[in-house]
Amino acid sequence: SKKLLVDVDCGVDDAQAIMLALAAPNVELLGVTCVHGNTAVDNVCKNVLRVLQACNKLEIPVFKGAAKPILGNTIDAGHFHGQDGLGDAPDPNPPGLDLIQKEGAVSAMIRIVNENPGEVSLVATAPLTNLALAVKLDPSLPSKLRGLYIMGGNTESRGNITVCGEFNFVADPEAAYIVLNEFKCPTYLACWEFTCYSKLSWEFCDAWLAQDTDKARFMARIFRYSIEVSKSERFEKEFVAGSGFVSCDSYAMAAAVDDSFITESDRYAVSVELTGTHTRGMMVVDTLGLLKSTNKAFIIKKVDMKKFEKMMMVALK
Ligand code: BDR
Ligand code: CA
Repeated sequence: SKKLLVDVDCGVDDAQAIMLALAAPNVELLGVTCVHGNTAVDNVCKNVLRVLQACNKLEIPVFKGAAKPILGNTIDAGHFHGQDGLGDAPDPNPPGLDLIQKEGAVSAMIRIVNENPGEVSLVATAPLTNLALAVKLDPSLPSKLRGLYIMGGNTESRGNITVCGEFNFVADPEAAYIVLNEFKCPTYLACWEFTCYSKLSWEFCDAWLAQDTDKARFMARIFRYSIEVSKSERFEKEFVAGSGFVSCDSYAMAAAVDDSFITESDRYAVSVELTGTHTRGMMVVDTLGLLKSTNKAFIIKKVDMKKFEKMMMVALK
């Protein structure tokens, strides 16, 4: 089976990605590490527990990580995920925060990877603060990973939080820079524009949520707010490439779960803009090879959408 370690800022699509992994037959989820991002890190911890509870998987260890980016202050995505990160939906049975491990996320990440050298795929669907701190503490970490799967960055300078920046990279540009430069392991990027070009249709979402299971009912509750925002006129205009839902984080997760999910990718060195009036946090793609970097990432271009829909369906069964 495949060993996954997942780093999240548990908003709605992180929740969907976690549920996809939990339902995959060949996956062992070694732990979930939490970081600031869509909402404050304490909310993120609580949200992960809620997701695990909905899937009867509260035995999976959850670790609390960085509350702030390396420089500056947090931003959040309450406008899309709700203030609590999961659509501000009423929660009849909230799990206790005492279930969070005493060990911090960064040490847990280092420990778990070192206990399973060469076996762990790390899936990061959040600002990359925890990963950046981990590689500074243990520079050998990347060489012990099977692969790194990131939802973040952008390829056409079309932003979703600044004019040309994607949320996870903009929320901690220094961390994204460190990770892209120092994780010299097979790295796969599900960037913002790609995820937008690979939307799930609203018809699919309706059928997905209509499944007669507790997991589908849980998802319908936490998903309601983001659906409303996604369908709003303003958002549809702003949103890259039209109507439907973009479960950004689920693409990175699906790529980690199934090696045949990615059907086309580009391979380039990538970096992150750290200064600039409009461009701080924007990913840059070195198509000309001018950065002279040997560290090239796989930028996902096309995936098997049939497989994706199937994995998503199974996630709520
Ligand atoms: C990313 O930002 C967050 O709001 C989502 O969870 C996703 O990880 C998309 O830019
Ligand atoms: Ca996320």
